[in-house]
Amino acid sequence: MTYRKTYRTLLAAASMLMVVQTAPVQADEFSDEDLARWQQEYLSVVGQGDKLFHGGLSSKNTVSCDQCHPNAANTHPETYPKFQRQLGRVVALWEMINWCIQNPLESELLAADDPRMIALQAYIVEERRGAVLEPGKH
Ligand code: HEC
Repeated sequence: MTYRKTYRTLLAAASMLMVVQTAPVQADEFSDEDLARWQQEYLSVVGQGDKLFHGGLSSKNTVSCDQCHPNAANTHPETYPKFQRQLGRVVALWEMINWCIQNPLESELLAADDPRMIALQAYIVEERRGAVLEPGKH
């Protein structure tokens, strides 16, 4: 696939530049300590999402996600991106989360890179760990 090739070439060029500009550190090098720290940070964000999902997200009508989706039930993150009738186009998971924030919760939309949006996605996807990816599925 040409797209993949172009991407790999760019990536290789970028890493060569990084090697020139910085110390001779390989991009792939990481230690067990790094892995442990990354895992800890990941789980901490999942934990934040868990709290937001279970009432921690401020909402004008005190509705929370878990009232309709206990333990992230029926959130189907593995089916995104997909066409959603409510939005009338193919959307990413975070856009559907915003639909629920705006409608059932009657609250303000979150930016895609808002840490709360990242955390909500981390929690939902972690709850569905192991599900087979089925983008586009209804
Ligand atoms: C009052 C009930 C209600 C609440 C509260 C609610 N949702 Fe939903 N949610 C729905 C409905 C209804 C749908 C639409 C189902 C469909 O048509 O796919 C939906 C769909 C979703 C989907 C997509 C599901 C799919 O199958 O594609 C996600 C993800 C989601 N909600 C996350 C959340 C999050 C996160 C919150 C809290 C911010 C939340 N929901 C709060 C009712 C609710």
